[in-house]
Amino acid sequence: MKPVTRRTALTTLGATGAALALGACAPQNRNPGAALASANAGVRVGAVADFPTVGSFKETELADTPAVIVRLERANPAGISVGDVHLIALSRVCTHLGCLVNAPRDGVLGCACHGSLFSAAGGAATRGPATESLATFKLEARADGIYAVG
Ligand code: FES
Repeated sequence: MKPVTRRTALTTLGATGAALALGACAPQNRNPGAALASANAGVRVGAVADFPTVGSFKETELADTPAVIVRLERANPAGISVGDVHLIALSRVCTHLGCLVNAPRDGVLGCACHGSLFSAAGGAATRGPATESLATFKLEARADGIYAVG
């Protein structure tokens, strides 16, 4: 076994520290739905009846990512419409440094860590420091409910 010198120890500690620092600041997964798409089955997230009014929401976890399904006032290209019910699935992982955003309130999801705000209608960052939108999951309406499929 090779003796551990002061230089070896410091080099190892430095590399470990750098890896930890990079991990803490790692960019957020911009496409968490890819795992759902590759599973090719989707995850049932509820039924239209679970979202009786605009602003109704349901918290869930999709592909190991905290998420929220929100009923919107208007159709959104990132969501789906079933009759006059417009839904979108948003990741709750803040795109700034990864804290969880709060449940939607009045069409806005806020991050308590540094104050970023995101629109429920598409997930766009409306106040920084976050600049990127919340990730979205693709939804699909099936006979037995709403599924996240990607
Ligand atoms: S982690 Fe959300 S604003 Fe910084």
